[in-house]
Amino acid sequence: MFLPHLMARVEKGEKLAALTCYDASFARVLADNGIDLLLVGDSLGMTIQGHVTTLPVTLEHMVYHTEAVARGVGGRAFIMADLPFGSYQAGPTAAFSAAARLLAAGANMVKLEGGAVMLDTVRFLHERGVPVCGHLGLLPQSVNVTGYRAQARDVAAAERLMHDAEALAQAGASMLVLESIPAVLADETTQRLAIPTIGIGAGPHCNGQVLVLQDMLGLTDKPPRFAKDFMEGAWNVAAAVRAYVAAVKAGEFPGPEHGL
Ligand code: KIV
Repeated sequence: MFLPHLMARVEKGEKLAALTCYDASFARVLADNGIDLLLVGDSLGMTIQGHVTTLPVTLEHMVYHTEAVARGVGGRAFIMADLPFGSYQAGPTAAFSAAARLLAAGANMVKLEGGAVMLDTVRFLHERGVPVCGHLGLLPQSVNVTGYRAQARDVAAAERLMHDAEALAQAGASMLVLESIPAVLADETTQRLAIPTIGIGAGPHCNGQVLVLQDMLGLTDKPPRFAKDFMEGAWNVAAAVRAYVAAVKAGEFPGPEHGL
């Protein structure tokens, strides 16, 4: 699926239901049960590889998993793939080489973390035919600086995030993931932008929601507070995915109990 097909759903006022995905079997189940967007996230460093951060994930790993997901999806859903740590921070040309590998592997869009410092890179990719999703708020690739904790909780940081969001959109980003920020800030940011926002731990007002697949299937030892186990009350994975899609589309997930 290409970006215009996904955008048409947003323009109709539909909320986008997204999940991370790392292999062909789950990709098929997710695509068959209404997931709009599959994120081949570098969270695979934790969920698949057992690390405590995303930092050891390489471009080769991302290519391998993106190819597997693309085979499972068979064109029935949109695939976003993370540019892993170290593959893009050196500058636009490094980012383009890495992004080209991910698009060739079957991704329809790449995601990168960071605000002002990424503007040149986002512009460079966009102008060369690479759809880009920005990622603001909690940036897992910066865990050594910030730790894993909610972001933008004071006025100055909130203003910085809003400014970064607008600048990323202006530079050519087509979508924005907002992670672990106050719901009111995600709401305000979403209203100000002409591009869709996808929230994770960012309240109910974004244009879509994403969760880590293992968190929503109840497979994570200590899931984040904003996640929900959709296997509870579902008799198989397909039913859990359908329940998640229905809850996101109806604006019922996340609820107030999934706040930071
Ligand atoms: O890698 C990932 O799973 C992500 C989500 C947290 C949005 O980037």
